[in-house]
Amino acid sequence: MKILVINGPNLNMLGKRETERYGMDTLASIESALIKKGKELDCELIFFQSNHEGAIIDFIQEEAARADGILINPGALTHYGYSLHDALVDSGLPVVEVHLSNIHAREDWRRISVIADTTIGQISGFKAGSYSLGLEALINHLRSGS
Ligand code: DQA
Repeated sequence: MKILVINGPNLNMLGKRETERYGMDTLASIESALIKKGKELDCELIFFQSNHEGAIIDFIQEEAARADGILINPGALTHYGYSLHDALVDSGLPVVEVHLSNIHAREDWRRISVIADTTIGQISGFKAGSYSLGLEALINHLRSGS
């Protein structure tokens, strides 16, 4: 089982960025916790982060054929990334969307996810924990077929 773990704009700044909201974890520490979780769940993870929508789309187009699913925190692209939306659809892969903060308890514009309809589900609000919950949900979905 191979999972693409994708992070969008500004998530490379975790650990320094609005720590009261996003937590103290860095992207590197989130990724190492996910590697541990991935071992427990017997899956391989391929990590990618970019501040550029086009680079994320290139990555999805290049890697989708070799992957079984996508775990993604699109950052602010969540709210306006229509090209990202279309790339997720074209990948044909099951997608789980994760957010560190609870986007539904924030500004009105953050409550809308333009990628939500491409996903099997969303986990939002558990800081770094959203990623491991999301990975578990994605693997359960892939293994159970539901
Ligand atoms: C975020 C929420 C987005 O609204 C924001 O732009 C981010 C992080 C989250 O993980 O809570 O960059 O995706």
